[in-house]
Amino acid sequence: MTVAPLTELPLWPPVNLDRDPLVPLDADERRRFTGPVTKVRLPTDATAWLVTRHADVRALLRHPGFSADLSRPGFPLLRRLAPGALSDRRGGFIRMDGAEHSRLRRMLTAEFMIKNVRRIEPLITETVERALDGLRDAGPPADLIAHFALPVPSMVICHLLGVPYADHDFFQERSRTLIDRDAPPDRVQRHVQELRDYLHRLVEVKVAAGDRTDDLIGRLARDRVDTGELAVDELVGMAVLLLIAGHETTANMIGLSTLLLLRHPARYAALRDDPGHADGLVDELLRYLSIVRTGLPRLATEDVEIGGRLIRAGEGAIAVLSLANRDGDVFAAADAFDPYRAAQQHVAFGFGVHQCIGQPLARAELRIALVALARRFPRLRPAVTTRRLPTRDSSIVYGLDELPVTW
Ligand code: HEM
Repeated sequence: MTVAPLTELPLWPPVNLDRDPLVPLDADERRRFTGPVTKVRLPTDATAWLVTRHADVRALLRHPGFSADLSRPGFPLLRRLAPGALSDRRGGFIRMDGAEHSRLRRMLTAEFMIKNVRRIEPLITETVERALDGLRDAGPPADLIAHFALPVPSMVICHLLGVPYADHDFFQERSRTLIDRDAPPDRVQRHVQELRDYLHRLVEVKVAAGDRTDDLIGRLARDRVDTGELAVDELVGMAVLLLIAGHETTANMIGLSTLLLLRHPARYAALRDDPGHADGLVDELLRYLSIVRTGLPRLATEDVEIGGRLIRAGEGAIAVLSLANRDGDVFAAADAFDPYRAAQQHVAFGFGVHQCIGQPLARAELRIALVALARRFPRLRPAVTTRRLPTRDSSIVYGLDELPVTW
C-alpha cells in the first residue's frame, strides 16, 4: 500500500476565517472530511483518523480500546505540549482511563444529578435576572457576551464550587488560554500552574480544621479528603477541570444560541410565548451548534475496526461531534435548524465513559438563560452585521468573542 506524504493529507481542523460563525464546515470542507473515516494531518504534524458518522463516533467513544490519556506516546495532540506539561495532571480525569478515571468521576456523580441541579435552579434564575439587569444598564447597544453569556455560567460555577466570583477575570483569562490551540505552550503551562496554585490555596483553606463550607469543594474536602479517599492535589485538579469546563462551554453556547435565534425571529418569539418547549429547543441548539468543533481526540491501544476502517494500536482518531450531529442517517434534513425535531440523540456532550458530567447543569443554564432573555428583551436584535463577528477559531470550544446587540 502506498502511503500519502504528510503534506498531501488535509489539515484538521481546517483554517477558514471567512466562514459564517454558525456554519461548522463549509460545503468544500464537508466533502473533504466526510470520509466516513479519513486520514488527516494535525497542526502538530501528527496524523489521525477522522471519524465523522454518528454511529462510528459513538462506536469509537464507547470502545475500551481507545484511550483519552494524552500522556501516551502517539496521542493525537492538536497543539504541542510545553516541557513539564505532563508533570502535574492529578485530578484532571477528563484525560484519564479506566479505574483511575471512574474513581474520580464517581465522586462527582451525585453533585451533577438532575435532582440536585433542580435544587439550584432558583440560584440560576436569580443569576440570570441579575445579569440581564446588567445588560439593560449597559445599553443599548451592549455586548451580549460580556454582559450576559459569560457572567451567568461563571457566577453559577463559582457559587457551586465555592470560588470567589470577584476573581473571575483571573481564572477566565487562564481558562481561555488552556483551551486555545494557538496559545504558546509555555504560556499554557504557566497558566495551568497559576490556576492550580490559586485553587490549591482555596482548597487548603477549606481543608483546614473548622472550615467546612457547603459548596462542592468543601463537601469533597469533608467527605473524601478527610477520609483519605482523595488527595488534596487531586481535589485541586478536579476543581481546575470543573472551573474551565463549567465556564467556557455554556458561555459559548449562550452566545451562539442567541445569534442563531436572532436570525430566526419567529423561534425567538416562540421561546417567549411557549417556554414549555425550551428543553427541546436546547437539545436542537446543542446539536446544531456542536461547539466542541475540533472533535474529541483518542489513541487506539489495540487494533479496532471503526466504520469499516482498521485503526491500529498506536494510531490516533478524532471523533468529530459536529459532523456526527449533522449525519443525515440520524437527523432528517440535518442542516436545518428545527427546534421541533427530536434531537436528543446528538453527541454534543460526547458519548461513553467521558460523556459530559455537567450536562444537567448546562441544560438548565441554557434553558433558564434563553427563556428569560426572550421574555425581558423581546425586541432584541444584532447591532452589527453578523456574518463577520470576531470568533474563537483557535479554541477547542468554539464561540463568539463579541455579540453587539440592541433592543
Ligand atoms: C466532558 C461538552 C458543560 C464538566 C465533556 C465532553 C464534552 C463536553 C463533549 C466530553 C469530553 C471527552 O470525551 O473527551 C460540554 C458542553 C457543555 C458542557 C457542550 C455546555 C453546553 C459542562 C459544564 C460542566 C462540565 C457546565 C461542569 C460544571 C465536564 C467534565 C467533563 C466534561 C468534568 C469530563 C467528564 C469525564 O471525563 O468523565 N463536556 N460540556 N461540562 N464536561 Fe462538559
